[in-house]
Amino acid sequence: MDKVLIFLVLVVLTYVTATWAMIPRCHEGMGLHIPVVYRIRERINRQSHTILCDTATDGGGWIILQRRYRFTVSFERNWEEYKYGFGSLDDDYWLGLEYVSSLTAHGTWELRVDLSDNGPRSYVIWSNFRIGNESDGYRLYLWGEKSGDDIDDIGNSMLLSNNTPFTTYDVDNARRSDGYNCAETAGGWWFKTDGFCAGINLNEPWTIQNNVASRMSFRFRHL
Ligand SMILES: *[C@@H]1O[C@H](CO)[C@@H](O)[C@H](O)[C@H]1NC(C)=O
Repeated sequence: MDKVLIFLVLVVLTYVTATWAMIPRCHEGMGLHIPVVYRIRERINRQSHTILCDTATDGGGWIILQRRYRFTVSFERNWEEYKYGFGSLDDDYWLGLEYVSSLTAHGTWELRVDLSDNGPRSYVIWSNFRIGNESDGYRLYLWGEKSGDDIDDIGNSMLLSNNTPFTTYDVDNARRSDGYNCAETAGGWWFKTDGFCAGINLNEPWTIQNNVASRMSFRFRHL
């Protein structure tokens, strides 16, 4: 009897620890305004991985999924690279869809998209965000409330990618009827299955963006 009880307690403890371990400790930085971005080592999918936390924006607690501000890192990458991440923690950077997928599989997460074109920054936040698993093509799920100062422009453009799987030049999950793979010229993204490729693509090459002053980032946090 006692052994069974101990076993049960251990199982529950392990479960609680495992659940906690799923949520990176970016919230430790809440209220702390320096440094704005710090690194922590986290175990995601039983692997140790470094993630970037933003402690300043809107109360902090954000994990950075994508950051482009120096234009030194190419985002024309294959599936494996979008899956496990690329770039540098000090530079332009992509966290990796596999990590975002495992993190957002549990709990409630919000997504924030920031853009600045040579001027004041505009942003939009979704109250619910999730990335599907690899068999689901790392599909983008956005739902719930939208807030921010550019809900119409960024918000509605992003929504065109909602519920679509991710596509890279070597893995085409959009399978468009015209046979064209949008990622061949535009970096990996959640491309539409018909019509124009996307309303907005934060991973496209800068030459297409044609505005060297653009900055953009994607961040998400646990609620
Ligand atoms: C991946 O996600 C799909 C859809 O949510 C689910 O049916 C499937 O079981 C998942 N596969 C794995 C390996 O977790």
